[in-house]
Amino acid sequence: MYKQKCVTLEGTRALAYKFANLIKDRGCFVNLFGEIGAGKTAFVKLVAEALGVKEKVTSPSFVILNEYHSASIPIYHFDLYRLEHAGIKTITDELREYSEGRKITFVEWAEFSQGEIPFNRIEINVTYDDDDSRIYEFTSYGRDEIIEGLKIENTCV
Ligand SMILES: Nc1ncnc2c1ncn2[C@@H]1O[C@H](COP(=O)(O)OP(=O)(O)O)[C@@H](O)[C@H]1O
Ligand SMILES: [Mg+2]
Repeated sequence: MYKQKCVTLEGTRALAYKFANLIKDRGCFVNLFGEIGAGKTAFVKLVAEALGVKEKVTSPSFVILNEYHSASIPIYHFDLYRLEHAGIKTITDELREYSEGRKITFVEWAEFSQGEIPFNRIEINVTYDDDDSRIYEFTSYGRDEIIEGLKIENTCV
């Protein structure tokens, strides 16, 4: 587990750049948890910026999936908030293909799956602290090298 407090959006940017650097070669499946406005989409946007995505990165809450192919690795960004409960039940199998191969997949609102998805991934829990301050907590399921990489240099701003 790795936990970092980001006092400003700039702090979150530094964390996102560090994370991007650790996943840009092999890819990663990333679940993001946290209430509305916590900073899940903000983090995805900053990782995309770090990876050199040229398209405008927006929240996929209405379309469920956005994808970006202008960086050196494909990026898929799901927001499952609007999925009906029945749809949620079958989504784990749908997501499996997005966990395979060299790609980065972010899933917002994967609450249904916390700790249960059967493939390697990083889970990020975002919590409000106060004002512009956020706490990002990373848990590894089979990707411990990413957690170790995050620990190497503390970029708290
Ligand atoms: N330190 C910070 N880290 C991330 N976001 C921050 C921070 N400070 C302020 N914000 C703002 O908080 C909001 C988070 O919204 P968003 O990422 O869309 O939330 P979510 O996707 O979790 O619902 C954004 O407007 C972002 O600019
Ligand atoms: Mg969001």
